[in-house]
Formats: sequence, structure tokens, C-alpha cells
Amino acid sequence: MFKRSIEDPAGFWSDIASEFYWKQRWGDKIYDENFDVRKGKIKTEWFKGGITNICYNCLDRNIEAGLGDKIAIYWEGNEPGLDDSLTYSQLRDQVSQVANYLKDIGVKKADAVIIYLPMIMELPITMLACARIGAVHSVIFAGFSVESLTQRIIDCKPKAVITCNAVKRGSKTIYLKDIVDAAIDGSAQNGVSIDVSLVYENPVALKRVDTKWKEGRDIWWQDVIPRYPTTCPVEWVDAEDPLFLLYTSGSTGKPKGVLHTTGGYMVYTATTFKYAFDYKPSDIYWCTADCGWITGHSYVLYGPMLNGASVIVYEGAPNYPHAGRSWDIVDKYKVTIFYTAPTLVRSLMRDGDEHVTRSSRKSLRVLASVGEPINPSAWRWFYNVVGDSRCPISDTWWQTETGGFMITPLPGAWPQKPGSATFPFFGVQPVIVDEKGVELEGECSGYLCIKNSWPGAFRTLYGDHERYETTYFKPFAGYYFSGDGCRRDKDGYHWLTGRVDDVINVSGHRIGTAEVESALVSHSKCAEAAVVGVEHEVKGQGIYAFVTLVDGVPYSEELRKELIVTVRKQIGAFAAPDKIHWAPGLPKTRSGKIMRRILRKIAARQLDELGDTSTLSDPNVVNQLIELADS
Ligand code: WTA
Repeated sequence: MFKRSIEDPAGFWSDIASEFYWKQRWGDKIYDENFDVRKGKIKTEWFKGGITNICYNCLDRNIEAGLGDKIAIYWEGNEPGLDDSLTYSQLRDQVSQVANYLKDIGVKKADAVIIYLPMIMELPITMLACARIGAVHSVIFAGFSVESLTQRIIDCKPKAVITCNAVKRGSKTIYLKDIVDAAIDGSAQNGVSIDVSLVYENPVALKRVDTKWKEGRDIWWQDVIPRYPTTCPVEWVDAEDPLFLLYTSGSTGKPKGVLHTTGGYMVYTATTFKYAFDYKPSDIYWCTADCGWITGHSYVLYGPMLNGASVIVYEGAPNYPHAGRSWDIVDKYKVTIFYTAPTLVRSLMRDGDEHVTRSSRKSLRVLASVGEPINPSAWRWFYNVVGDSRCPISDTWWQTETGGFMITPLPGAWPQKPGSATFPFFGVQPVIVDEKGVELEGECSGYLCIKNSWPGAFRTLYGDHERYETTYFKPFAGYYFSGDGCRRDKDGYHWLTGRVDDVINVSGHRIGTAEVESALVSHSKCAEAAVVGVEHEVKGQGIYAFVTLVDGVPYSEELRKELIVTVRKQIGAFAAPDKIHWAPGLPKTRSGKIMRRILRKIAARQLDELGDTSTLSDPNVVNQLIELADS
């Protein structure tokens, strides 16, 4: 299949696309691409002229195929015992009601709608409702600050904002509507006014009477949505019409609005989901990502729904109210495919095996990971302890920009190597280039680029095609540049080494922060590590390592030396950290990404330049780190 996907991409993808519903088939050209800035404007088009609708393909097509009574979503609330579910038919009814409402307030094809919701069922429902009427959803992760939300509203000028009054995550209550209100005020001051703010009442977190309200603009979801008909005709769109905008951070302050279109994204997310997870109709699938990120778009919602899968949507934190909650959920729903992030694996690993081993987990069949390189020790723990040494791990490498998996194992298809994302997915031709953009052969290490277009690729950065070309296509002419470093071993396996912006150059040696981190966490007492570069008089850059220890282990001079020796042993003397900084906690975004920007400032002792720490899941860890800096 892979061979055909490379030699005959048109034939390969048209056969797969034919399994979906198209109101009208695409034109003669299945794809049209230019990845070479020297030849003109960068362009990717797939199935242009094909008329379809992704919501129809997720719901109506599956219902017509007999899946109407199958559970589409199992919803698990923050508090154990609070749950709900929707069949495919029930989901379509609710999606249609929201779609009818949106049409009624004047939302039309190609209009943007901002969704600022937590992981309640209304989040996927609203995304599908937008898709049903051809509107462009822009989901903003409900952990973003007022400033971030304001910036995004100003950028995409939505017709409406959809939120809920508040939500409980873990033991904390987050007042989402207050954030939206402030962002709407802020946008108005910048000339972008929002006329409609649809608010879901979430009484578990905050009662209606206690919610601040602006008559005329604010509307309770529960007051309007149930009044609308449960059927809504689909707006047929071109394969190249936009489906969604998702903001992601770039190297500059301004977020990038990654734009995905309909047809190619549909075919690609469905196919990657099916093969990389070895999906079977009887599977119960749980992806721990929030719909506010690309993983939630492609692999909580679209990929699984297009396959008619039963999906778990979990509202809470993976370790609330106790460290074993994730495994309770696995056992409760008999989850067969479990997709999560290395950061979660490491934090659960740190909590101790006993929280895992007291659960059954017999239902698990495939495990999967995304978001950052998974270090071999976390990989082994995930494999041995969570998966009882019987479930293959799909370490899926991809990005917001790629829409779906690019380099990933197919479970059971070839031998695994802990920490390697293995081989490219169908149709993907990764290349590793040196600084001059020369393709490297065989065993090598360099910058990861992609040679050709694939259906799920983003089409532009919203309103800034030039930045799209400059960021991704100019660094290495002729290729899409991922921004990641990668090593290919003698067997052709790919090892992602982290963002190249996180590469440290020590005495001329190029060292991936991820490599040093992986070495540190291979020490049995080290739970997590984050490495940044600091200015060094002699070496140019020195290695500065923040380390979190396994619960209960005290930090000592002896341990510091052991950690350094571990790195020397695993990578070489040149990679030995210059400084070990004990970190009881690391600054992370609410999606679990370590904020290296802040760590770099702490490492450099530029404490007055820490910047915005409001998006951190726990801003206090920053003060704690500063206090421990010279201890
Ligand atoms: C990193 C998340 C190693 C990588 C889907 C990429 C990974 C960035 C992996 C994109 C993986 C993601 N192994 N690194 N399996 N998956 N990354 O846009 O650096 O939030 O460039 O998309 O995450 O992050 P994004």
C-alpha cells in the first residue's frame, strides 16, 4: 500500500476518497501542488471541484449505514459518577438544532465562529454544527487567557462566540464567561464587535442566577437550542472550502491561524485514524486531548467519527480525584485504544505503578502517544506497566499544520523501537536535510522536511499567505519544513529529536534538548527533565537542565553528580549538563507542554523578562523555581 501511495498518489487517494459521500465527484485533477517557492506561489489542493460535507460524512453517512443506535460519544464528567452518552442519531439531532440556530442568527457559509468551551459534549456538537452549515469553526482552548482570546477574536472576526458560564476541572472552578466577556470588550475597543454570545449553562459549576449577564448580547444555550428542529439540511461545500482555523504559536508573538479545508482533511484524518490505530468497529476509543488542540480536532472528533467509532470525551483532569482515575475510566468503558501524551505518561509514572496495577486494563489493545518525543524509559513504562507488555504503541509524529499523522507505526506491522515514531504514513515522503537543504541519505541526522503534499496538509496561514511561505517553505526551498530535528537510523527508523529551535550548540556540537532530557529521565530517580541552552563563555552555549524527581526522593549533591554522569554515559561528555536545577514542578501549559521560553529566562536569570505566565496550568511553579535557582 505504501509503495502504491508514493508511486500513484492520485489512484491511491481517489480509491480511498470514493468510500466517502460526495454530492459531486472532484474534477480531473485529484491534487495540484507546488511546494517549491522558486516555481511560484505555494499551493496545495486536493479533490478540488468535489462537493461534500464532513458533518454529513461523520453522521448521516454512518446513520444510513446502520450505525444510528451506536454510541458516538461517551461523556465522562470531572466528578466520578457524572456521565452521559449520545448515539449517532441523537448526536445528529443535537447538531442539527445548533446548526439551525446558527443559521437563524445569520451565520452563513464561510463565516467564522469562535468556540470557547471545555470538554463537554456541546464542544464537538458545536464544531459539527458549524461544519454542517459550512461555517468555519475556530476552537480556542478554554485555558487561554483574556488577551489570547481577544487577539484571536480580532484576527478572525467571528459572527458569534460560543462558551459556557463556568466549568470545574479537578477541584478548580474556571469562570469561562468572565474571560469571554472581557475578550469581547477588548475586541470592541479594537473595532471588532461581537453581537451574539451563546452561553451554555453548566449548573455543576455555576448557577444561572450567579452568572453576570449582558442583555441583548448574551443568550442561554438551553433557552434557544431545544426550540429548533432536529433536522437540518447540509450545506454542500467544495473540497477546498475552509473547514476550520486553529491558532498555534509560532516563533514570533502573533499566533498563526492554521487553515484546514474540507475534502483532503476528511480523507486524511479518517485514513490515518483507521490504520495507525488498527481501528475495528467494536473498539472503544479514548484520546485524552482537548478539542481545543489539533489532536482533539483530528482524533477526538473527525477521524473517529468518520469511521463510526465510539469515542470517550472526558471533561476532567487525568489524575483527579486520584492518580488512578485514567485507569478507572479505561475499565469503566472497556477502552481498547488509548491515545495520550508523553507528559501524561511521565506524570502517571511518577505517581507510582500501584495506581495502575490495581486496575484491570484487559480491554486495552493499542496504546498511542503524541506531542513530543517519548523518551525510551517512559515508552517502556507505558508498554510494560500500562499495556502489560502486550499492546503495541503508536508513537504518532505530526503537527497542527499537517492535519494528521505523518510518521507513525502501524500496530503490529513492523518491530517497534522504544522512542521511535518509525516510518512515514501512506503518501508521505519525509526527507532529512542538512543546513544547506541538501537531502541526506541513509543513517543521518538533520532537519525534517516533507517533499510532497498530502491531503491533510494546511493550505495557508489565515490572512497571511506570505508568512506561510516564509515560515515553512523558504528555509529549505523545495520542501515543507517541519521545524523539527530528526535522526534516521541504519534500519530507516525515524527518531524525532525535538524542535530545532530547541537545539543547543555546545562547543560546536549540536545537541537536541530532547536527547539530554531522555538521558536524564533514564535515571531511576528522575521523573521529568527540561533542558534549555544558556550562554556560556567558553562553549558558546551551555546545557541547563531542570529536573523533577520521583515522588519522595530528596535532591542531593550526590544525585546531582549521578545525573550528570548519566548524561555523559548516554550521549557523551560534551552533552553533560552545566547546571542541574532541581524543579519540584515544571511550568506547563494546560495542554501539558513545557513552557521552555520561561525556563530559558530563569536559566539566564532574566527574571524581569518572564513574560506572560497566565496560560500556565500552575503559575506558582515559576516562583518556586526562582527560589531554588541557586540552591
Ligand atoms: C512535536 C501536535 C516527537 C513536534 C500533534 C511537532 C512530536 C510539534 C510528536 C507539533 C511525536 C508531536 N514525537 N515530537 N510523536 N508529536 N511532536 O502542532 O515537535 O501541537 O513539531 O501538534 O510537537 O505540535 P502541535
